[in-house]
Amino acid sequence: MSALWSSLMLAWHRRKTRGKMDRVFNRSQDPYRYEQNPYEKARLAAMESALQGRGFDSALEVGCAEGIFTERLLRQAREIVAVDISPVALERAQRRLSGRGRVLWHEADIRQWEPEAGRRFDLIVLGDVLYYLDKPLVREAFEQVFPRVASWLRPGACLMLAHGFAGPVEREHREGFRRRFQSLGLSLTHESAVDAGGPVSCLISVLSAPPPQSQ
Ligand SMILES: C[S@@+](CC[C@H](N)C(=O)[O-])C[C@H]1O[C@@H](n2cnc3c(N)ncnc32)[C@H](O)[C@@H]1O
Repeated sequence: MSALWSSLMLAWHRRKTRGKMDRVFNRSQDPYRYEQNPYEKARLAAMESALQGRGFDSALEVGCAEGIFTERLLRQAREIVAVDISPVALERAQRRLSGRGRVLWHEADIRQWEPEAGRRFDLIVLGDVLYYLDKPLVREAFEQVFPRVASWLRPGACLMLAHGFAGPVEREHREGFRRRFQSLGLSLTHESAVDAGGPVSCLISVLSAPPPQSQ
């Protein structure tokens, strides 16, 4: 595929995703019912407890939506960088957490965004976001997300993946996200599936970046 074709496809897909997400968030407040649906509540609580109360100096949340998990992360992270492609979601997230802690908001597509010069994180969270990117016409940019995200982790830092699945085929697909990071040298430290008795479960994987190299 030529570089020009790839960048045209990516621009088209970014516009399509942003439009779709804005329509979802314009329909209502909390369109995914994170604050009411028992599965979503169990998933968000399990994501928080998978972090085991650790403190983080600097966290990156990709696909922060309306900031509902960001709010939980504020209990553990001194500073959060939160990225989302939807300006509608971000605006609501900003309003929700206004004056509540240090969060730097970025409206961006994670396939293009880069942290400001040399910035690295000791926690990165990717919650229910990677499957939006795994589409045939933009697969190259999707595959690049894994090494790019891995390169933003400090030595020994933590990466949490949490993606919903319905059935074994989707579970295998979500495990593929975790395997890509493992093939880049990250080690799996925790994995669990949240099942609240409904059709969807959530695979939560916590990985650790390679420790600092001793001199
Ligand atoms: C289903 S919500 C997940 C929200 C939250 N991370 C969670 O785990 O509950 C997915 C979010 O990812 C965002 N998103 C989708 N594609 C994205 C992209 N390419 N770059 C950044 N954010 C994206 C959407 O706008 C949406 O807010």
